[in-house]
Amino acid sequence: MRTLRIRPNVPRLRPSQRPFVYPTRQASSAATDARSAVTRTKNLLYGSALTLALSFGYLYVTDTRSSIHEWLVVPALRQIYPDGEDAHHAGTKILKALYSFGLHPRERGNPDAAGDLQVEVFGHTLRNPIGTSAGMDKGADIPSPVFDMGAGLVEVGAVTPLAQEGNPKPRVFRLPSQNALINRYGFNSEGAETVATRLRHRVRQFAYHAGLGLDEDAERMVLNGEAGVPPGSLIPGRLLAVQIAKNKTTSEQDIEAVKRDYTACVDQLAKYADIIVVNVSSPNTPGLRALQNVEPLTQLLNSVVQAAKRVDRKTKPAIMVKVSPDEDSEEQVSGICDAVWDSGVDGVIVGNTTKKRPDPLPKGYLLPQTEAEILLEQGGYSGPQMFQRTLDLVKRYRKVLDDGPKQLPSPPEKSMPDLSSGVQSGAEPDASIMSKLLPSASSSQTSSSATSAGPRKVIFATGGITNGRQAREILDAGASVAQVYTAIIYGGAGTISKIKQEMREEANKKG
Ligand SMILES: Cc1cc2nc3c(=O)[nH]c(=O)nc-3n(C[C@H](O)[C@H](O)[C@H](O)COP(=O)(O)O)c2cc1C
Ligand SMILES: *[C@@H]1O[C@H](CO)[C@@H](O)[C@H](O)[C@H]1NC(C)=O
Ligand SMILES: *[C@@H]1O[C@H](CO)[C@@H](O)[C@H](O)[C@H]1NC(C)=O
Ligand SMILES: *[C@@H]1O[C@H](CO)[C@@H](O)[C@H](O)[C@H]1NC(C)=O
Repeated sequence: MRTLRIRPNVPRLRPSQRPFVYPTRQASSAATDARSAVTRTKNLLYGSALTLALSFGYLYVTDTRSSIHEWLVVPALRQIYPDGEDAHHAGTKILKALYSFGLHPRERGNPDAAGDLQVEVFGHTLRNPIGTSAGMDKGADIPSPVFDMGAGLVEVGAVTPLAQEGNPKPRVFRLPSQNALINRYGFNSEGAETVATRLRHRVRQFAYHAGLGLDEDAERMVLNGEAGVPPGSLIPGRLLAVQIAKNKTTSEQDIEAVKRDYTACVDQLAKYADIIVVNVSSPNTPGLRALQNVEPLTQLLNSVVQAAKRVDRKTKPAIMVKVSPDEDSEEQVSGICDAVWDSGVDGVIVGNTTKKRPDPLPKGYLLPQTEAEILLEQGGYSGPQMFQRTLDLVKRYRKVLDDGPKQLPSPPEKSMPDLSSGVQSGAEPDASIMSKLLPSASSSQTSSSATSAGPRKVIFATGGITNGRQAREILDAGASVAQVYTAIIYGGAGTISKIKQEMREEANKKG
């Protein structure tokens, strides 16, 4: 038994090193031989072999560390579905179906239990700092199986108030030689109501299995923490983020309308989320002074913060904003950070796809003709080439956020915190006074300190993270969570387990 099982603590093995034969070969040979006349003993022997093979097949196939997820499932999906979006839908459907039969890939052996990768986020102890990012599960179809792949955080969405189609297809393009993607989905969404219904169903099922019943009261008990799990993820040590966005038809210029869209999403979805993520554009209207640019964003974010405070639940979700790596000028970064402080938002997701087109890797590599053409498609580029930019941007946001809020409205008066400015900027006075006093006081003493309690703003990072060394670098730069998406599309269901294993190896190397 011992030699055949995939043991939890051994490092990931390459297929050639695996201590057992790939099972279906035995299964099919058993089937062929059964057709010829065989003795009872032989039958019995084959019968047991088949049973064994199937059991180990099950253990193998459903283990995230099995290499078939990367070397068989990923290429198979790509072959069967030439269109990237179709492949994604199929993958989601298959995973959902497997999950309902308990046959989904999962991380075995509970490697996170050691606590070596845990991080503190919004008062929760996350068992590991690897998350998935928005776009992978727009409709909240598969949060549970994605958690089972080992993620500490799952972000679902983006969800818009009303259902909408997004851009015409095709709108997702693969660059296999680069392990990269280009997408221009344009926020296709089933709408907040449908997604909320799905999340509610998940909570009620959880309540039912916890013996609390299936009704509204049972739901409320779970959401209020009486089952001892975070209300979003429903799993100790993990968090569920839900990203919200505006309707396509809502003009970005109409701040009141955008506020209504976000508030509508919060009202429907926030009670099922541990974190609400807002997709925003940074303040950058040319020719306007920084303050005038920051003000609408602050108002917008503050409306989300206020809406989240009204959520009918014991603990309220944290609010984060997601910012584009292309909006990286000094003014844009400091403008967003000002809005974060003044609105009372809890953190920033640094990174996203980029409109730019990075040079192919390795240096000097010429793309195949088909991919060179794909590179010309409109949309956001994601892939490993993004990593350095993400890392640099995380460092910058960490620094600017740790410097604390700027003194509004005018720069000259620097020594005294202006306690009235929070009122002008639309934030709640008490919150902004706290945030103005605490972080600047602490940052003047410990500006380079990587940890501090209190209102330090949280950073998650996304963009080009593909391995454990990079995840470690991102965390060292001041992020609490490293989110991955494109790496999973190319690396399959075992990607998260693999990245965490690499982080552990990295830590061991350093001693
Ligand atoms: C197909 C696709 C759809 C995405 N949809 C969203 C989205 O709805 N909202 C969002 O904020 N980011 C979205 N993203 C961006 C990802 O969440 C992520 O930030 C980005 O791909 C960079 O990370 P990566 O290099 O690990 O993929 C999407 C990315 C891809 C590839
Ligand atoms: C956008 O969403 C809002 C919810 O805030 C909804 O009431 C409105 O009808 C939507 N707008 C359009 C143009 O569909
Ligand atoms: C999301 O943010 C981007 C800018 O970073 C903006 O262009 C886009 O319109 C936003 N989309 C939605 C639906 O909020
Ligand atoms: C993030 O990327 C997605 C997909 O490329 C895009 O639709 C969205 O507008 C971006 N959001 C921000 C805040 O840049």
